[in-house]
Amino acid sequence: MPAPTHRSHVVRLLAPCAFAVTALSCSSDGATVIDPLDTYCLTGSADVEERIDALLDALTLEEKASLMHGVAIVPIDGTWQSTSIPAKGIPGFHMLDGPKGVGGASTLPVANGAKTTAFPVPVARSATWNRELERRVGAAIAQEARGVGADTLLAPGMNLAWHPLSGRNQEYYGEDPFLAGEIGVAFVQGVQGMGVIATAKHFAANHIEDTRLDVNAIIDQRTLRENFLPQFRKVVQEGAVGAIMSAYNQLNGAYCAENKPLLREILKDEWGFPGFVMSDFLWGTHNTVPSALAGLDLEMQSPRIYGEPIVRAVEDGELELSHVDEHVRRILRAQLCYELDSNPAVPDESKLETDETIALARAVATKSITLLRNQGDFLPLSKSRAESIVLVGPLADLENIGATRGSSGVISSEVVTIAEGLLARTDVASTIEFVPGDLINAEDRAKVTAADVVIVAVGLTEEDEGEGQVRAPLTAIGAGDRETYGLPEDHAAFLTNVLALNENIVVILEGGSAIDLSPWFEDTRAVLMAWYPGVQGGHAIADVLFGDANPSGRLPISFPRTLSDLQPFPDQALEVTYERYHGYQRLDRNGVSPFLPFGFGLSYTTFDYSTLTAESQTEGGAEIIRLTFTLNNTGPQAGVETAQVYAGAVNSPVEGPVRKLVGFAQASLEAGESTTIQVDVPVRELAYYEVGAGWVVEPGAYALEVGPNVADLALSAELTLL
Ligand code: BGC
Repeated sequence: MPAPTHRSHVVRLLAPCAFAVTALSCSSDGATVIDPLDTYCLTGSADVEERIDALLDALTLEEKASLMHGVAIVPIDGTWQSTSIPAKGIPGFHMLDGPKGVGGASTLPVANGAKTTAFPVPVARSATWNRELERRVGAAIAQEARGVGADTLLAPGMNLAWHPLSGRNQEYYGEDPFLAGEIGVAFVQGVQGMGVIATAKHFAANHIEDTRLDVNAIIDQRTLRENFLPQFRKVVQEGAVGAIMSAYNQLNGAYCAENKPLLREILKDEWGFPGFVMSDFLWGTHNTVPSALAGLDLEMQSPRIYGEPIVRAVEDGELELSHVDEHVRRILRAQLCYELDSNPAVPDESKLETDETIALARAVATKSITLLRNQGDFLPLSKSRAESIVLVGPLADLENIGATRGSSGVISSEVVTIAEGLLARTDVASTIEFVPGDLINAEDRAKVTAADVVIVAVGLTEEDEGEGQVRAPLTAIGAGDRETYGLPEDHAAFLTNVLALNENIVVILEGGSAIDLSPWFEDTRAVLMAWYPGVQGGHAIADVLFGDANPSGRLPISFPRTLSDLQPFPDQALEVTYERYHGYQRLDRNGVSPFLPFGFGLSYTTFDYSTLTAESQTEGGAEIIRLTFTLNNTGPQAGVETAQVYAGAVNSPVEGPVRKLVGFAQASLEAGESTTIQVDVPVRELAYYEVGAGWVVEPGAYALEVGPNVADLALSAELTLL
């Protein structure tokens, strides 16, 4: 590890101002931002707005109200539809989930039978820290969406991994709003570039599954703005996301679908969102007029509070017609801007599970695998040396793609298990044997004892975590929130048995959240986090084990030592007050070291960081801090490193995080190669949120730190903002 470098700079920036992050006038850093309609509307906004004016004149109140809801609970021709009026050229939406691939409706009995590619789950894709790859995943999922006749994708999931026990962590991009926002924008761009509307969900604070339909999340304004909304703002303002889905839960006392501060004041007025807000499905709506006034445009997936009740509310004088027109305008804008009328999605099997989508699933899985331990460079396994390798464990031959219902309900033709991936490696000198079962008979135990290497696959499955609660009489969709931080009991017991038989243990973990590794971590040679790796997971894992790929995944979540280092997870509570910090910001703030830090991941090579400089610049009218440093691959082979930049105010009178992620860059370097990396940090990333004043960059000193993870920041520069 190089000695820490500390350099001090005084940077004169434009007079720091209090500002609102609005889309229309002044961005957070004072730069002028273009009209959001121009970025929203691929086809040019002027023509579309004129067509909408004409349609609003031609539609009856009943027709307008009908456009504001979905058609039926059950999918029609394989998709969930909103009202169409073909005679007036209004196509309606055709929707499907979701975050790890196209599915959802296809898991219901009315299935159209389509099979699509299950990609590694979003938390895995976030572990790649690779925007370009995520853009390609977005485009591939959108291609498959069109291929089953869907024009609106119910993804990305933009909530955070607030706590390791939250059931839907696998569907989100990790714990950090900056990382989640960057990866989310890439996904949205990929999806929408294919002419499919992306839906950022669940707005906002949907972090508890077991009480998701009712729980009231109490979050103070500063915590909400700084920790739970930035990634949504980013997909709205930088990704031009087409749709937002409101969450089931309440936020600060109002259900999200009728939450005026959230939908009207923040999303639409402040951020300038020109798209439409739909409710989460079936149980996400409650009251007609409050929802309409708050800014809910479309009720999914069948009419309960919209439709006829909207007509009545207008007739009774409770709702202005102009409100109805605004909702309908937003719905029509999305349909026309995305050409759902003139270029509809037409089912086409040749677009599903193509060689390209399968290859992409493998590439992403390979890059998401995160090496957590590699004692004495035990990995990679040699391809030329003949060894006996035994594979065991409850996940060794399980098609473990994570949750398989609801938002995660992707059905693929083939899922390559770890056993299948390893046994396919006929190019290696070693003998590889898969020993199924519990290892209760002596012969199996002898095989494990005698092996040169034992690979053990354990972790979480859809039995442990996933989408959760629905209302009676339906049964829950999936496992909901996790019950414990450790491995499932039977997996832990299995591992303990194997550890007693052999010293050369490599653990392959699967799951969508942090897991307590402390009871057994030190007893292993190596540990790989493979997440839920999608249809090609087995091949990707084998590629990493045998060194065909050098692991480059980096944790998008912290692995705390114990859950008592975090806010208690209130999975049965109907009201939960969020504490100020979660994840690494909380651990840092409390001076608690994690078991494994946010951003962490090993490689088969080593990297050295040196010579950091920082200077202020103006880029496109925005104030930025340009960091430049040298990254050197000092190890034996080519590898990919993700350099991370964190910032924190020094001795500020304003309480704030010790540090937070404000940038990252990735480099692929040959052995011995070095490169200069530049990361531009917008000054707006240093702002804090002051109730009443908005976003404020406080004058004073800031530390900008650079390194491979939040707990290993060898380079730092201190800047003074005047
Ligand atoms: C989930 C959403 C999903 C919808 C349709 C809801 O229960 O919360 O994420 O898009 O169902 O499957």
